[in-house]
Amino acid sequence: MKQLIEVVDFESLSIKIEGLKVDGIIFLIDEFVLSLYKDHLNLQDLGKATNKKVILKTIPRGEKAKSFHIYENIVEEILREGIHRNYHVIACGGGAISDISGFIASSLLRGLSWSVIPTTLLSMVDASIGGKTGINSKSGKNLIGAFHMPDHIWLNPFFLETLPKEEFLNGFGEVLKYSFLDIKIKESLLNSKFKISEIIHLCANYKSRLVEEDFKEKGPRKYLNLGHTFGHAFEKMYPISHGEAVYWGMQLLFHIFERQDLIKDCDDMMRALNLSFGKAPWGNVLKDSSTFVNDVMGFVKRDKKVISEKEIELVFINEKRIPYLLVCDFETIKSKLDSFFKENYVGF
Ligand SMILES: NC(=O)c1ccc[n+]([C@@H]2O[C@H](COP(=O)([O-])OP(=O)(O)OC[C@H]3O[C@@H](n4cnc5c(N)ncnc54)[C@H](O)[C@@H]3O)[C@@H](O)[C@H]2O)c1
Repeated sequence: MKQLIEVVDFESLSIKIEGLKVDGIIFLIDEFVLSLYKDHLNLQDLGKATNKKVILKTIPRGEKAKSFHIYENIVEEILREGIHRNYHVIACGGGAISDISGFIASSLLRGLSWSVIPTTLLSMVDASIGGKTGINSKSGKNLIGAFHMPDHIWLNPFFLETLPKEEFLNGFGEVLKYSFLDIKIKESLLNSKFKISEIIHLCANYKSRLVEEDFKEKGPRKYLNLGHTFGHAFEKMYPISHGEAVYWGMQLLFHIFERQDLIKDCDDMMRALNLSFGKAPWGNVLKDSSTFVNDVMGFVKRDKKVISEKEIELVFINEKRIPYLLVCDFETIKSKLDSFFKENYVGF
């Protein structure tokens, strides 16, 4: 199962879409992205240019896109237009749009082929790659979905020009994660002349390689969860983005395992990139560190990487800078958190 990842501009993107060997295109786009890029995408002429039937649907921006209600409306509208198995879905937007669009592609007529044009940094380096699709349920995020691999991922870094700073930082949390998993990405980031398009391509290809090796996340694909166990806890505990939560999740992991080398890398990278996530999110609550540790442990015990009543598989980096899975019991994690906060705390 291979997904083709290419860096494009608007002109080459049109050529790629025109070259799809399908009878029709179902183009699903974030309504805000459409308002910003109407002229660049020139969608009103897509039918003429491709000589195919084009069904264009806008999707509300943000997490609310991933709902039953929106899924049902869009699927019913598409079916009313009359489609068959040789229609191709194209998702254009951030991760919320690729998640619901991929799920629509996976379920319409029991599966249509699809491609993605990611428009946020997070979706370029992460969400658009790997074929995890889905919507949210009242019981939790991403609980309804399917694995459905896209054929093409067209990366156009031009979209980043309009991305708000907080969304950029959100994506950079994931980029930093990749820099610990792959030395080439770290070196490229530390090179003062780096091009964002190259970094995006490296990160996207890194994820793609792991996905090809381990589509259903039974082995190395799990490495992509570096920093995510504490990160998911912080995402629930504080009003911060996913990428920022992952950054702090890695920081805390490196601190409690006393990996000064990795902490230094984190700091060097932030300095080199002239980025800052500000103060640690738990900065104000540490007068009562035991409540904080208990709260974090509550989330750790419900993490998807828990493997028994007492243990979880953490992603870690060895001395040679190679990722691996570390089986760790809850007691050990708790006692490391306790001693770290009791001994050190004021903030990073
Ligand atoms: N499937 C996966 O493997 C995977 C991995 C990571 C995250 N995700 C999912 O991705 C979602 C988050 O994705 P996201 O961070 O891209 O958020 P998003 O899709 O919600 O987009 C964030 C905001 O940015 C706006 N936006 C998008 N492109 C823009 C542009 N070029 N210029 C200006 N504004 C733009 C959107 O309108 C939206 O308001 C979550 O639902 C998460 O669960 C999925």
